[in-house]
Amino acid sequence: MKLDLLIKNANEIITVKGASHIPKTGKAFQEISIVKGNIGIKYGRILNVDNYNYKAKQVIDATGKVVMPGFIDCHTHLVHAGSRHYEYEGKCSGKSYSDIDKKGGILYTVEQTRKASIEDLVEKGLKDLDIMLSHGTTTVEIKTGYGLDQENEIKMLYAINELQKKHPMTIIPTYLGAHKVPPEYENNRQGYIKLVKDLILTIKKENLAEYCDVFCDKIGFTYKESKEILEEAKRHGMKLKVHAEQTNYNRGAELAAKLGAVSADHLDYISKKGIEDMKASGTIGVLLPGVTYHLTEMIPGHKKVKKFLPKKIRRMIENELPIALSTDYNPGSCRTQSMQAIMEIAARLYRMNYAEIINASTINAAHAIGRSNEIGSIEFGKKADLVIYDCEEHGILIDKFGINLAKIVIKNGKIINLY
Ligand code: NIG
Ligand code: FE
Repeated sequence: MKLDLLIKNANEIITVKGASHIPKTGKAFQEISIVKGNIGIKYGRILNVDNYNYKAKQVIDATGKVVMPGFIDCHTHLVHAGSRHYEYEGKCSGKSYSDIDKKGGILYTVEQTRKASIEDLVEKGLKDLDIMLSHGTTTVEIKTGYGLDQENEIKMLYAINELQKKHPMTIIPTYLGAHKVPPEYENNRQGYIKLVKDLILTIKKENLAEYCDVFCDKIGFTYKESKEILEEAKRHGMKLKVHAEQTNYNRGAELAAKLGAVSADHLDYISKKGIEDMKASGTIGVLLPGVTYHLTEMIPGHKKVKKFLPKKIRRMIENELPIALSTDYNPGSCRTQSMQAIMEIAARLYRMNYAEIINASTINAAHAIGRSNEIGSIEFGKKADLVIYDCEEHGILIDKFGINLAKIVIKNGKIINLY
């Protein structure tokens, strides 16, 4: 038998195996399996992980290198127009996210995104996806939420679906019509909620999105409004996600659990009950440390300094809540497309250990988008989405920071030409 591709002599193959059916928690979350040797690839799939030198059409020598599953970035707002870099100085000098939001924030991006054509969004999106791929991400979830009317939410979904046709990255589209009430509905919230709900039907009919997400927050939607929208999405067979407890405690985690959402994301102000409910319902907690870092939320002097976060995250882990990590890449609250950066920040700010961080960025993130049978680990039959890093041991990836160690990215068994 001749393989299509053989990666040989890797110093460490981080397989993350054994958790395709249930996300890793407890003892399993503290372990990653490490193998020294070869990976055989055929028909875009992983055939074997061993030490045998099968014949292959193409061979990569990975001596002294680390091989990991491609990252799964399970929460992003990658499609958007414009930049808010001018705001950033204000954030750094201590203004809170809610303050900034009143003066532009998400709504500024909505203005810019409404003005952009599908082609503009696709052109920018392709560039962002290239950066992600070259930093080791091979699957990404992308949300709408900067259109906030029928025409522009659908435009965003068309752009997301177009990106999937044009780029090797695997993309999971999410409808986030309930990101913010747009200015034209400021005095008619119920009118906007009706619009968000009506659009679900069109989206389902045209199969434009797999998930429905809601920003359940004092600067987004109330518990009751979020529930109404998510229940409608569920009725139409969409899978659910919730932006929960980001800037305040709003029972978003409890709501996600109650409705059987696949994930609840952010969770800075999650309650004890929120943790218990999510655990019981199997809802995954997606943590976004890039937001904490970018918004300077742990630095004394910040209006609402979140010094409690490491303890809270430890409580979630100790209570065996399944945890995933993601960038939340967007124009406001997190500006990196690199999951390597997120791993580095998770260690420094959230005090997570290497095994926890890697499990949360690969297999548990695959669970957070319902793809754990296909990706997220290096095991027989899974897609050959693999990244070879230019370092001898996986810990170096997290210990170093601010650089890109991804050397070779393999997507569906094919070597990607990095830009
Ligand atoms: O996940 N929280 C709401 N939405 C995004 C931020 C979007 C933006 O600032 O443009 C988030 O942090
Ligand atoms: Fe987000």
